[in-house]
This record gives sequence, C-alpha cells and structure tokens, in this order.
Amino acid sequence: MSRPKNDTFLRALLREPVDFTPVWLMRQAGRYLPEYCETRKRAGNFLNLCKSPSLACEVTLQPLARYKLDAAILFSDILTIPDAMGLGLSFENGEGPRFERPLRSEWEIRDLTAPDPWDHLRYVMDAVSEIRRALDNSVPLIGFSGSPFTLACYMVEGAGSSDFRTVKTMLYDRPDLLHRILEINARAVTQYLNAQIESGVQAVMVFDTWGGALSDRAYREFSLAYLQQVVEGLHRSKDGERIPAIVFTKGGGQWLEDIAAIGYDAVGLDWTTDLSAARKRVGDKVALQGNMDPISLFASPEAVATEARKVIDAYGRGTGHVFNLGHGINQFTPPENVAVLVDTVHEYSRNRP
Ligand code: CP3
Repeated sequence: MSRPKNDTFLRALLREPVDFTPVWLMRQAGRYLPEYCETRKRAGNFLNLCKSPSLACEVTLQPLARYKLDAAILFSDILTIPDAMGLGLSFENGEGPRFERPLRSEWEIRDLTAPDPWDHLRYVMDAVSEIRRALDNSVPLIGFSGSPFTLACYMVEGAGSSDFRTVKTMLYDRPDLLHRILEINARAVTQYLNAQIESGVQAVMVFDTWGGALSDRAYREFSLAYLQQVVEGLHRSKDGERIPAIVFTKGGGQWLEDIAAIGYDAVGLDWTTDLSAARKRVGDKVALQGNMDPISLFASPEAVATEARKVIDAYGRGTGHVFNLGHGINQFTPPENVAVLVDTVHEYSRNRP
C-alpha cells in the first residue's frame, strides 16, 4: 500500500520535509455543518450515526467536500469502548453522554473485561474500510480512541462532570480499583486501535481530554503511565508504512517533556501553551499538533486569518507542525470562517516571507 496522494499530514507527524503546514480540525465533522445535522436527523440519533458504517462514512467526508483539509478523521466517539463493555450508553438530545450502569461497586469492576474489537466494535472497523475505499488514497485517515483515564472518567461518573468528584474520590480512597479499570481500559484501547490500523487507518490519536483535571502526581500515575502502556502495545507499521501515533492531554502543557518521552510521534497542545516555547522544550523528539483557540473562529474572517498566521509563526520554520485547534470545534462556529482558516494555513505556510 502506498502513501496517499496528499501525505503532508503524515510527513509532518514523522518530521519529514513538507511544502506547507498540513491542517485538520478536531471534531471537523460535527454540528457546525448543516449537512451533518441533516444526516444525523436521518440516522435518528448520534449513536445510530456512529453505528451505521455508511452514514459514518458519509459524515466523515462532509468537511473534506467543503474544505481542503489534509486528513480525514474516522467519525465515531471515544465512548464506543465503554458501550461495548455493556455500560449502556445513550446521548440525550443536547445533554451529552450518559451511562445506564456506571462502574461503582467492587464486583462490577472485578467483572469488567476488554471487548473484542472484531466482535462488539465491528461496526467501527466496517466504517474504517468503507471510508478508506471512499477516500481513494486522497488524504490519510486518522483513527482514534479515548485514553484509559478519560474513558474511566465517563465510566465511573456515568456522564460528563465539572469536578470529577466520583472518579477522583475513587482515586484517593481505592486506587486499587481505579488501577484495575485503567489496566483493562489500556488493553481495550490498544486492541481497538490495532484493529483500526488493521482495517486501514493511517495514523492514530489518543484523546486524554480529562488528564488535565489531575494533580501532578496523580497525572503521572493514573494517566501518563497508561498512555505509555497503550503506545507500547500499538502496531507501529502496516504494509511497510509507519503508522504515526498522536497523544493529546488537554491542559497537559506543564507535562510536555514527560508526554514527549513516552513514545508517541506527536503531541497535541491546547491553546494555553506557547507553541514556540513548546517546540524548544521537545526539540526533535516529537512533532506538535495544535493549537489555535477554537473560539477565535467566532471573530471576523480577518481576525481568524491573523490568528492562524500567529500560530504558524509561533511554531516557526521547518517540519513537525500539524495545524489544528486546541480542542474540538465549537458547534456554533460559522462554517465560512473554517474555509478562511484552512486556506490561510496553506497559503501563508507555503509563501512565508
Ligand atoms: O473529530 C471528529 O470529527 C471525529 C468525531 C469525534 C466525535 N467525538 C464525534 C462527536 C471525536 C474524535 C470525538 C471524541 C470525543 N468524544 C472526546 C474526546 C475529544 C474531546 O472533544 O474532548 C470526548 C470527551 C467525547 C465524548 C463526547 N461525545 C461528549 C462529551 C459528547 C457530548 C458533547 C457534545 O459536544 O455534544 C459527545 C458527542 C459527540 N461526539 C458529537 C460529535 C459530533 C455531538 C453529538 C451530536 O451530534 O449530537
């Protein structure tokens, strides 16, 4: 299998020379696009959309039809793993995810097992194959998973949370139980990502959205250690091509050196970290992905372009930068401004003075 026609995203992740800065956006297929809302309505709800390979393929391609993005990301959700573990996932309209059976008691935790990705998560693998066929090697396809800790947050809380009181109380009271969940999650995430790689994704990303809610000591013990366990178990190449792996801890800027040392090819940064300082801190160890404030997309087109140029200038010349937002695109983002952003990144990085 050869690399896609536009392989700039893969080249930047592997720190090979590039002609321009590649760009994709977290949550690029989502509710800010009217065509996404239309397809979701046809599916009935968000989970049906994830579980239908042909509809998941359709929405994966929607942002690529509008914008010259340099990568596609599998349309799915990080909560497919706990759903496959039997926790009973649902998404109430506008309320976010909810689990019917959150993990609280010792016996439930002892009974937890990693799902076979070829069985309970087969629909994800089918979506990957279908998307690869539809992309026809134009741009690379990114696969993803939640981190063991971020998945545990939802599994124990049973929903999103502002303070993670339940899972963090478990961390302090019964660290053995949380470690048991994290061990199983790490195995589940590794097997899930390897199955996605087997099915055709050309890069993988691990979303550690809530690692930044932990204390310094707890982050190392309960998130970073398991992020490392995952990357050590990943298949790093397929058909002779390297499969780059990206890790993103939101709010993880203060741990950048440590995150860069665990074995991923690239580290995602949110908008609170200075990109030029970050580059100096990691040297040539990893590529960096990020980190424009997603809310800057609500400003005028001129301000959006100015902000994009500032992010590119902050990274500086040379390879190793994948342009992205510092977190997922907001659902109320004006779609026209995304076109301004993508075109500015390409034009400015190609023709820098
Ligand atoms: O980036 C992409 O385009 C791929 C799709 C993708 C989704 N979720 C689709 C989605 C990805 C990569 C995710 C990851 C995800 N899901 C994360 C990690 C990244 C992050 O945003 O921090 C997390 C924490 C989740 C869990 C999740 N899924 C929440 C908390 C919610 C509700 C909040 C919200 O934005 O509505 C979801 C739902 C979700 N996942 C939507 C989409 C497009 C919106 C649901 C809808 O259409 O109603």
